[in-house]
Amino acid sequence: MVKVDLSGAKAFFDAAGPDYAAAADAHRTLFNGTGAGNDFIGWLELPQRIIDTELKSILAAAEKIKKQSEVLLVVGIGGSYLGARAAIELLQTPSHNRISGETEVYFMGTTLSPDAINELIAVLGDRDFSVNVISKSGGTLEPALGFRVAKALLERKYGRTAAKKRIYATTDGSKGVLHNIAKNEGYEMFTVPDDVGGRFSVLSAVGLLPMAVAGIDIETVLKCAVEEMRSLSLASPENPAWQYAAARQHLYRKGKNIEILAGYEPSFRFFAEWWKQLYGESEGKNSIGIYPASVEYNADLHSMGQYVQDGPRTLMETVVSFDVPRTDYKVPFELGDPDGLNYLAGRNFSDIMATVVAAVKAAHISGGVPNIGVSVPSRDEAGFAALVCFFEVACGISAYMMGVNPFNQPGVEEYKKNMFRMLKEQN
Ligand code: PA5
Repeated sequence: MVKVDLSGAKAFFDAAGPDYAAAADAHRTLFNGTGAGNDFIGWLELPQRIIDTELKSILAAAEKIKKQSEVLLVVGIGGSYLGARAAIELLQTPSHNRISGETEVYFMGTTLSPDAINELIAVLGDRDFSVNVISKSGGTLEPALGFRVAKALLERKYGRTAAKKRIYATTDGSKGVLHNIAKNEGYEMFTVPDDVGGRFSVLSAVGLLPMAVAGIDIETVLKCAVEEMRSLSLASPENPAWQYAAARQHLYRKGKNIEILAGYEPSFRFFAEWWKQLYGESEGKNSIGIYPASVEYNADLHSMGQYVQDGPRTLMETVVSFDVPRTDYKVPFELGDPDGLNYLAGRNFSDIMATVVAAVKAAHISGGVPNIGVSVPSRDEAGFAALVCFFEVACGISAYMMGVNPFNQPGVEEYKKNMFRMLKEQN
Protein backbone atom coordinates (compact mmCIF):
# COMPACT_ATOMS: atom_id res chain seq x y z
CA MET A 1 0.00 0.00 0.00
CA VAL A 2 1.11 3.53 -0.74
CA LYS A 3 2.22 5.72 2.16
CA VAL A 4 1.68 9.48 2.03
CA ASP A 5 3.92 11.70 4.13
CA LEU A 6 2.58 15.20 4.69
CA SER A 7 5.23 16.23 7.21
CA GLY A 8 6.91 18.44 4.59
CA ALA A 9 3.66 20.18 3.67
CA LYS A 10 2.25 20.90 7.14
CA ALA A 11 4.05 24.22 7.55
CA PHE A 12 2.14 25.49 4.50
CA PHE A 13 -1.33 24.46 5.70
CA ASP A 14 -3.57 26.98 7.42
CA ALA A 15 -5.05 26.24 10.84
CA ALA A 16 -8.02 24.29 9.48
CA GLY A 17 -5.75 22.13 7.30
CA PRO A 18 -6.81 19.99 4.32
CA ASP A 19 -10.55 19.56 3.93
CA TYR A 20 -11.12 15.90 4.78
CA ALA A 21 -14.90 16.34 4.82
CA ALA A 22 -14.75 17.43 1.17
CA ALA A 23 -12.44 14.50 0.39
CA ALA A 24 -14.96 12.16 2.04
CA ASP A 25 -17.77 13.61 -0.10
CA ALA A 26 -15.72 13.29 -3.28
CA HIS A 27 -14.71 9.72 -2.36
CA ARG A 28 -18.38 8.80 -1.84
CA THR A 29 -19.33 10.44 -5.14
CA LEU A 30 -16.64 8.46 -6.94
CA PHE A 31 -17.29 5.06 -5.39
CA ASN A 32 -21.10 5.39 -5.41
CA GLY A 33 -20.99 6.48 -9.05
CA THR A 34 -23.09 9.59 -8.50
CA GLY A 35 -20.77 12.21 -10.02
CA ALA A 36 -20.27 13.75 -13.44
CA GLY A 37 -18.82 11.24 -15.90
CA ASN A 38 -20.03 8.29 -13.81
CA ASP A 39 -20.30 6.14 -16.93
CA PHE A 40 -16.47 6.09 -16.97
CA ILE A 41 -15.67 4.58 -13.58
CA GLY A 42 -15.22 0.98 -14.73
CA TRP A 43 -11.49 1.26 -13.89
CA LEU A 44 -12.40 0.94 -10.19
CA GLU A 45 -13.17 -2.75 -10.75
CA LEU A 46 -11.04 -3.26 -13.85
CA PRO A 47 -8.30 -5.50 -12.32
CA GLN A 48 -10.78 -8.16 -11.15
CA ARG A 49 -12.76 -7.89 -14.38
CA ILE A 50 -9.66 -8.53 -16.46
CA ILE A 51 -8.68 -11.51 -14.27
CA ASP A 52 -12.16 -12.94 -14.91
CA THR A 53 -12.20 -12.24 -18.67
CA GLU A 54 -9.26 -11.35 -20.89
CA LEU A 55 -6.21 -12.27 -18.77
CA LYS A 56 -5.71 -15.74 -20.27
CA SER A 57 -5.95 -14.53 -23.86
CA ILE A 58 -3.60 -11.61 -23.15
CA LEU A 59 -1.03 -14.03 -21.70
CA ALA A 60 -1.45 -16.39 -24.66
CA ALA A 61 -1.05 -13.56 -27.18
CA ALA A 62 2.05 -12.31 -25.35
CA GLU A 63 3.61 -15.80 -25.51
CA LYS A 64 2.87 -16.01 -29.22
CA ILE A 65 4.42 -12.60 -29.86
CA LYS A 66 7.50 -13.47 -27.83
CA LYS A 67 8.00 -16.71 -29.80
CA GLN A 68 7.46 -15.10 -33.19
CA SER A 69 9.11 -11.72 -32.77
CA GLU A 70 12.24 -10.01 -31.59
CA VAL A 71 10.40 -6.69 -31.54
CA LEU A 72 6.86 -5.59 -30.71
CA LEU A 73 5.82 -2.25 -32.16
CA VAL A 74 3.12 -0.69 -29.99
CA VAL A 75 1.16 1.94 -31.89
CA GLY A 76 -0.88 4.33 -29.74
CA ILE A 77 -0.93 7.75 -28.11
CA GLY A 78 -2.01 9.33 -24.80
CA GLY A 79 -3.80 6.82 -22.60
CA SER A 80 -3.31 4.19 -25.29
CA TYR A 81 0.47 4.27 -24.79
CA LEU A 82 1.71 6.02 -21.66
CA GLY A 83 0.66 3.35 -19.15
CA ALA A 84 2.49 0.54 -20.92
CA ARG A 85 5.56 2.68 -21.44
CA ALA A 86 5.50 3.79 -17.79
CA ALA A 87 5.31 0.18 -16.59
CA ILE A 88 7.97 -1.15 -18.93
CA GLU A 89 10.44 1.64 -18.15
CA LEU A 90 9.78 1.49 -14.41
CA LEU A 91 9.94 -2.28 -14.01
CA GLN A 92 12.22 -3.44 -16.79
CA THR A 93 14.18 -0.21 -17.38
CA PRO A 94 14.53 0.97 -20.98
CA SER A 95 17.55 -1.20 -21.66
CA HIS A 96 16.45 -4.40 -19.88
CA ASN A 97 15.23 -6.32 -22.90
CA ARG A 98 18.17 -5.21 -24.99
CA ILE A 99 20.46 -6.69 -22.33
CA SER A 100 18.45 -9.88 -21.73
CA GLY A 101 17.81 -10.63 -25.41
CA GLU A 102 14.04 -10.84 -24.82
CA THR A 103 11.48 -9.27 -27.15
CA GLU A 104 11.98 -5.51 -27.23
CA VAL A 105 9.02 -3.15 -27.17
CA TYR A 106 9.09 0.09 -29.16
CA PHE A 107 6.41 2.73 -29.32
CA MET A 108 5.18 4.56 -32.39
CA GLY A 109 2.14 6.62 -33.33
CA THR A 110 3.01 9.43 -30.91
CA THR A 111 4.68 11.64 -33.46
CA LEU A 112 4.37 12.79 -37.05
CA SER A 113 8.11 13.45 -37.25
CA PRO A 114 9.43 11.69 -40.39
CA ASP A 115 12.89 11.61 -38.79
CA ALA A 116 11.56 9.69 -35.80
CA ILE A 117 9.68 7.27 -38.06
CA ASN A 118 12.75 6.61 -40.21
CA GLU A 119 14.90 6.17 -37.12
CA LEU A 120 12.53 3.58 -35.68
CA ILE A 121 12.51 1.69 -38.97
CA ALA A 122 16.32 1.67 -38.87
CA VAL A 123 16.31 0.41 -35.27
CA LEU A 124 13.88 -2.35 -36.25
CA GLY A 125 16.23 -3.42 -39.04
CA ASP A 126 15.42 -6.83 -40.46
CA ARG A 127 14.32 -8.30 -37.16
CA ASP A 128 11.10 -10.29 -36.88
CA PHE A 129 8.32 -8.14 -35.44
CA SER A 130 4.65 -7.96 -34.51
CA VAL A 131 2.36 -4.94 -34.06
CA ASN A 132 -0.07 -4.04 -31.30
CA VAL A 133 -2.21 -1.15 -32.49
CA ILE A 134 -4.13 0.51 -29.67
CA SER A 135 -6.84 3.14 -30.04
CA LYS A 136 -10.12 3.28 -28.18
CA SER A 137 -11.81 5.58 -30.66
CA GLY A 138 -9.93 4.15 -33.61
CA GLY A 139 -9.93 7.58 -35.20
CA THR A 140 -6.86 9.28 -33.71
CA LEU A 141 -4.65 10.60 -36.51
CA GLU A 142 -1.15 9.99 -35.13
CA PRO A 143 -1.57 6.27 -34.32
CA ALA A 144 -3.76 5.71 -37.40
CA LEU A 145 -0.92 6.96 -39.62
CA GLY A 146 1.64 5.08 -37.49
CA PHE A 147 -0.38 1.91 -38.04
CA ARG A 148 -0.39 2.46 -41.81
CA VAL A 149 3.40 2.58 -41.69
CA ALA A 150 3.70 -0.48 -39.43
CA LYS A 151 1.22 -2.48 -41.51
CA ALA A 152 3.01 -1.62 -44.76
CA LEU A 153 6.32 -2.76 -43.22
CA LEU A 154 4.74 -6.03 -42.07
CA GLU A 155 3.17 -6.70 -45.46
CA ARG A 156 6.41 -5.98 -47.26
CA LYS A 157 8.28 -8.45 -45.01
CA TYR A 158 5.74 -11.25 -44.59
CA GLY A 159 3.07 -10.76 -47.29
CA ARG A 160 -0.55 -9.69 -46.69
CA THR A 161 -1.87 -12.95 -45.22
CA ALA A 162 0.98 -13.65 -42.82
CA ALA A 163 1.06 -9.98 -41.78
CA LYS A 164 -2.49 -10.24 -40.45
CA LYS A 165 -1.39 -12.94 -37.99
CA ARG A 166 1.15 -10.52 -36.53
CA ILE A 167 -1.29 -7.69 -35.85
CA TYR A 168 -3.08 -7.38 -32.49
CA ALA A 169 -5.73 -4.65 -32.21
CA THR A 170 -6.81 -3.22 -28.87
CA THR A 171 -9.88 -1.06 -29.40
CA ASP A 172 -13.58 -0.55 -28.73
CA GLY A 173 -15.52 -3.79 -28.44
CA SER A 174 -18.21 -2.93 -30.97
CA LYS A 175 -17.56 0.22 -32.99
CA GLY A 176 -15.00 2.58 -34.53
CA VAL A 177 -12.73 2.54 -37.58
CA LEU A 178 -10.05 0.35 -35.99
CA HIS A 179 -12.67 -2.09 -34.69
CA ASN A 180 -14.10 -2.43 -38.20
CA ILE A 181 -10.69 -2.84 -39.85
CA ALA A 182 -9.66 -5.46 -37.27
CA LYS A 183 -12.90 -7.42 -37.73
CA ASN A 184 -12.68 -7.36 -41.52
CA GLU A 185 -9.02 -8.33 -41.58
CA GLY A 186 -9.33 -10.97 -38.86
CA TYR A 187 -6.76 -9.50 -36.45
CA GLU A 188 -6.68 -10.86 -32.92
CA MET A 189 -8.61 -8.29 -30.87
CA PHE A 190 -8.62 -7.01 -27.31
CA THR A 191 -11.09 -4.60 -25.78
CA VAL A 192 -10.86 -1.15 -24.27
CA PRO A 193 -13.92 -1.30 -22.01
CA ASP A 194 -16.71 1.21 -22.72
CA ASP A 195 -16.69 2.47 -19.16
CA VAL A 196 -12.93 3.11 -18.98
CA GLY A 197 -11.36 6.22 -20.53
CA GLY A 198 -7.94 6.09 -22.19
CA ARG A 199 -5.90 7.55 -19.33
CA PHE A 200 -7.47 5.11 -16.83
CA SER A 201 -6.97 2.04 -19.06
CA VAL A 202 -3.45 0.85 -18.17
CA LEU A 203 -4.77 -2.18 -16.27
CA SER A 204 -6.75 -3.39 -19.30
CA ALA A 205 -5.30 -5.05 -22.42
CA VAL A 206 -4.17 -1.54 -23.42
CA GLY A 207 -1.30 -1.69 -20.95
CA LEU A 208 -1.19 -5.37 -20.09
CA LEU A 209 -0.39 -6.90 -23.47
CA PRO A 210 2.76 -4.80 -24.10
CA MET A 211 3.74 -5.25 -20.43
CA ALA A 212 3.43 -9.04 -20.66
CA VAL A 213 5.51 -9.10 -23.86
CA ALA A 214 8.19 -7.08 -22.06
CA GLY A 215 8.32 -9.77 -19.38
CA ILE A 216 6.31 -8.10 -16.62
CA ASP A 217 4.29 -10.47 -14.43
CA ILE A 218 0.84 -9.05 -15.21
CA GLU A 219 -0.99 -11.60 -13.06
CA THR A 220 0.81 -10.24 -10.02
CA VAL A 221 0.12 -6.67 -11.15
CA LEU A 222 -3.61 -7.43 -11.39
CA LYS A 223 -3.82 -9.37 -8.10
CA CYS A 224 -2.06 -6.55 -6.26
CA ALA A 225 -4.30 -3.99 -7.96
CA VAL A 226 -7.44 -5.83 -6.77
CA GLU A 227 -6.17 -5.58 -3.18
CA GLU A 228 -5.15 -1.98 -3.65
CA MET A 229 -8.52 -0.90 -5.03
CA ARG A 230 -10.17 -2.62 -2.07
CA SER A 231 -8.03 -0.65 0.42
CA LEU A 232 -8.57 2.60 -1.45
CA SER A 233 -12.34 2.15 -1.26
CA LEU A 234 -12.22 2.56 2.54
CA ALA A 235 -13.80 5.78 3.73
CA SER A 236 -11.23 7.06 6.18
CA PRO A 237 -8.78 9.93 6.68
CA GLU A 238 -6.19 7.11 6.84
CA ASN A 239 -6.86 6.47 3.15
CA PRO A 240 -3.72 7.73 1.37
CA ALA A 241 -5.79 8.87 -1.63
CA TRP A 242 -7.77 11.19 0.67
CA GLN A 243 -4.58 12.52 2.21
CA TYR A 244 -2.94 13.28 -1.14
CA ALA A 245 -6.07 14.69 -2.80
CA ALA A 246 -7.00 16.85 0.19
CA ALA A 247 -3.45 18.15 0.67
CA ARG A 248 -2.93 19.16 -2.97
CA GLN A 249 -6.36 20.82 -3.11
CA HIS A 250 -5.60 22.72 0.10
CA LEU A 251 -2.25 23.88 -1.27
CA TYR A 252 -3.87 24.84 -4.59
CA ARG A 253 -6.27 27.11 -2.74
CA LYS A 254 -3.26 28.70 -1.11
CA GLY A 255 -1.75 29.63 -4.47
CA LYS A 256 0.34 26.55 -5.24
CA ASN A 257 -1.00 25.99 -8.74
CA ILE A 258 1.87 23.91 -10.14
CA GLU A 259 2.65 20.43 -8.87
CA ILE A 260 5.98 18.86 -9.72
CA LEU A 261 6.19 15.10 -9.53
CA ALA A 262 9.75 14.19 -8.69
CA GLY A 263 11.47 10.83 -8.73
CA TYR A 264 15.05 9.81 -8.01
CA GLU A 265 14.94 6.69 -10.22
CA PRO A 266 15.64 7.40 -13.91
CA SER A 267 13.26 4.54 -14.71
CA PHE A 268 10.45 6.58 -13.12
CA ARG A 269 10.47 9.17 -15.94
CA PHE A 270 7.62 7.71 -17.99
CA PHE A 271 5.53 6.99 -14.93
CA ALA A 272 5.65 10.75 -14.37
CA GLU A 273 4.52 11.26 -17.99
CA TRP A 274 1.59 8.92 -17.35
CA TRP A 275 0.76 10.86 -14.16
CA LYS A 276 0.90 14.18 -16.03
CA GLN A 277 -1.67 12.98 -18.53
CA LEU A 278 -3.87 11.55 -15.79
CA TYR A 279 -3.97 14.75 -13.77
CA GLY A 280 -3.65 17.30 -16.60
CA GLU A 281 -6.45 15.86 -18.68
CA SER A 282 -8.68 15.07 -15.73
CA GLU A 283 -8.40 18.32 -13.81
CA GLY A 284 -7.43 21.08 -16.24
CA LYS A 285 -10.78 22.40 -17.37
CA ASN A 286 -13.26 25.23 -16.80
CA SER A 287 -10.25 27.58 -16.45
CA ILE A 288 -9.02 25.86 -13.26
CA GLY A 289 -6.63 23.07 -12.36
CA ILE A 290 -3.20 22.34 -10.91
CA TYR A 291 -0.58 22.26 -13.68
CA PRO A 292 1.23 18.90 -13.51
CA ALA A 293 4.96 19.00 -14.23
CA SER A 294 7.75 16.54 -13.54
CA VAL A 295 11.46 16.38 -12.82
CA GLU A 296 14.05 13.62 -12.68
CA TYR A 297 16.40 14.04 -9.74
CA ASN A 298 19.37 14.13 -9.32
CA ALA A 299 19.82 15.21 -12.95
CA ASP A 300 17.27 18.03 -12.78
CA LEU A 301 18.65 19.37 -9.51
CA HIS A 302 21.32 20.85 -11.75
CA SER A 303 18.84 22.46 -14.15
CA MET A 304 15.30 22.88 -12.84
CA GLY A 305 16.58 22.87 -9.26
CA GLN A 306 17.23 26.60 -9.53
CA TYR A 307 13.61 27.35 -10.46
CA VAL A 308 12.25 25.02 -7.79
CA GLN A 309 14.39 26.60 -5.09
CA ASP A 310 14.13 30.22 -6.16
CA GLY A 311 11.51 30.86 -8.86
CA PRO A 312 7.90 32.00 -8.36
CA ARG A 313 6.50 30.48 -5.15
CA THR A 314 3.60 28.76 -6.86
CA LEU A 315 5.03 25.23 -6.67
CA MET A 316 4.29 22.17 -4.63
CA GLU A 317 6.45 19.08 -4.95
CA THR A 318 5.38 15.45 -4.73
CA VAL A 319 8.28 13.03 -4.39
CA VAL A 320 7.74 9.38 -5.24
CA SER A 321 10.15 6.90 -3.71
CA PHE A 322 10.75 3.18 -3.29
CA ASP A 323 11.72 2.09 0.23
CA VAL A 324 14.15 -0.65 -0.75
CA PRO A 325 16.44 -0.47 -3.80
CA ARG A 326 16.63 -3.51 -6.05
CA THR A 327 20.41 -3.55 -6.05
CA ASP A 328 23.20 -1.53 -4.53
CA TYR A 329 26.73 -0.39 -5.30
CA LYS A 330 29.57 0.77 -3.10
CA VAL A 331 31.61 3.89 -3.78
CA PRO A 332 35.14 2.75 -4.71
CA PHE A 333 38.17 3.77 -2.63
CA GLU A 334 40.82 5.69 -4.56
CA LEU A 335 44.48 5.90 -3.60
CA GLY A 336 45.61 9.44 -2.81
CA ASP A 337 41.99 10.68 -2.63
CA PRO A 338 42.41 12.96 -5.68
CA ASP A 339 38.83 14.27 -5.56
CA GLY A 340 38.61 14.38 -1.77
CA LEU A 341 35.68 11.95 -1.76
CA ASN A 342 37.27 9.02 0.08
CA TYR A 343 35.10 9.89 3.07
CA LEU A 344 32.28 8.31 1.00
CA ALA A 345 34.31 5.24 -0.02
CA GLY A 346 32.62 2.00 0.98
CA ARG A 347 29.24 3.63 1.41
CA ASN A 348 26.28 2.36 -0.61
CA PHE A 349 24.90 4.63 -3.33
CA SER A 350 21.41 4.01 -1.88
CA ASP A 351 22.59 5.39 1.44
CA ILE A 352 24.08 8.49 -0.19
CA MET A 353 20.88 8.95 -2.20
CA ALA A 354 18.76 8.84 0.98
CA THR A 355 20.85 11.65 2.47
CA VAL A 356 20.52 13.71 -0.72
CA VAL A 357 16.73 13.21 -0.74
CA ALA A 358 16.51 14.52 2.83
CA ALA A 359 18.80 17.47 2.05
CA VAL A 360 16.79 18.45 -1.05
CA LYS A 361 13.52 18.16 0.83
CA ALA A 362 14.72 20.49 3.59
CA ALA A 363 16.15 22.99 1.08
CA HIS A 364 12.98 23.12 -1.01
CA ILE A 365 10.74 23.47 2.04
CA SER A 366 12.87 26.33 3.32
CA GLY A 367 12.57 27.87 -0.16
CA GLY A 368 8.77 27.85 0.13
CA VAL A 369 7.92 24.62 -1.68
CA PRO A 370 5.63 22.24 0.21
CA ASN A 371 6.72 18.62 -0.04
CA ILE A 372 4.38 15.61 -0.24
CA GLY A 373 6.03 12.20 0.03
CA VAL A 374 4.53 9.18 -1.72
CA SER A 375 6.24 5.84 -1.21
CA VAL A 376 5.83 2.14 -1.92
CA PRO A 377 8.01 -0.69 -0.58
CA SER A 378 9.73 -1.59 -3.84
CA ARG A 379 10.07 -1.01 -7.56
CA ASP A 380 8.26 -4.18 -8.59
CA GLU A 381 4.88 -5.35 -9.85
CA ALA A 382 3.21 -4.71 -6.48
CA GLY A 383 4.70 -1.22 -6.24
CA PHE A 384 3.58 -0.37 -9.76
CA ALA A 385 0.03 -1.62 -9.13
CA ALA A 386 -0.15 0.33 -5.87
CA LEU A 387 1.00 3.58 -7.47
CA VAL A 388 -1.39 3.25 -10.41
CA CYS A 389 -4.44 2.56 -8.24
CA PHE A 390 -3.48 5.24 -5.73
CA PHE A 391 -2.97 7.99 -8.30
CA GLU A 392 -6.14 7.04 -10.21
CA VAL A 393 -8.38 7.05 -7.14
CA ALA A 394 -6.79 10.24 -5.79
CA CYS A 395 -7.29 11.87 -9.19
CA GLY A 396 -11.01 11.10 -9.18
CA ILE A 397 -11.34 12.45 -5.62
CA SER A 398 -9.25 15.54 -6.30
CA ALA A 399 -11.15 16.44 -9.50
CA TYR A 400 -14.52 16.05 -7.76
CA MET A 401 -13.24 18.24 -4.91
CA MET A 402 -12.59 20.94 -7.55
CA GLY A 403 -16.04 20.45 -9.04
CA VAL A 404 -14.88 19.20 -12.46
CA ASN A 405 -15.74 16.05 -14.38
CA PRO A 406 -12.53 13.96 -14.18
CA PHE A 407 -13.46 11.74 -17.10
CA ASN A 408 -13.94 13.98 -20.13
CA GLN A 409 -11.42 15.94 -22.22
CA PRO A 410 -13.34 18.53 -24.24
CA GLY A 411 -10.19 20.61 -24.73
CA VAL A 412 -8.37 17.86 -26.63
CA GLU A 413 -11.15 17.77 -29.23
CA GLU A 414 -10.54 21.41 -30.26
CA TYR A 415 -7.19 20.87 -31.95
CA LYS A 416 -8.50 17.74 -33.63
CA LYS A 417 -11.38 19.64 -35.26
CA ASN A 418 -8.98 22.29 -36.61
CA MET A 419 -6.42 19.74 -37.72
CA PHE A 420 -8.84 17.55 -39.70
CA ARG A 421 -10.50 20.63 -41.26
CA MET A 422 -7.17 22.08 -42.37
CA LEU A 423 -5.84 18.74 -43.66
CA LYS A 424 -9.00 18.19 -45.72
CA GLU A 425 -8.99 21.76 -47.05
CA GLN A 426 -5.51 21.17 -48.45
CA ASN A 427 -6.78 18.31 -50.68
O1 PA5 B 1 -7.50 9.79 -21.91
C1 PA5 B 1 -7.91 9.82 -23.05
O2 PA5 B 1 -9.06 9.44 -23.35
C2 PA5 B 1 -7.04 10.30 -24.21
O3 PA5 B 1 -5.83 10.79 -23.78
C3 PA5 B 1 -6.79 9.15 -25.18
O4 PA5 B 1 -6.16 8.11 -24.51
C4 PA5 B 1 -5.94 9.58 -26.37
O5 PA5 B 1 -6.45 10.73 -26.96
C5 PA5 B 1 -5.88 8.46 -27.42
O6 PA5 B 1 -7.17 8.15 -27.85
P1 PA5 B 1 -7.51 6.84 -28.64
O7 PA5 B 1 -7.20 5.67 -27.76
O8 PA5 B 1 -8.98 6.93 -28.92
O9 PA5 B 1 -6.68 6.82 -29.89
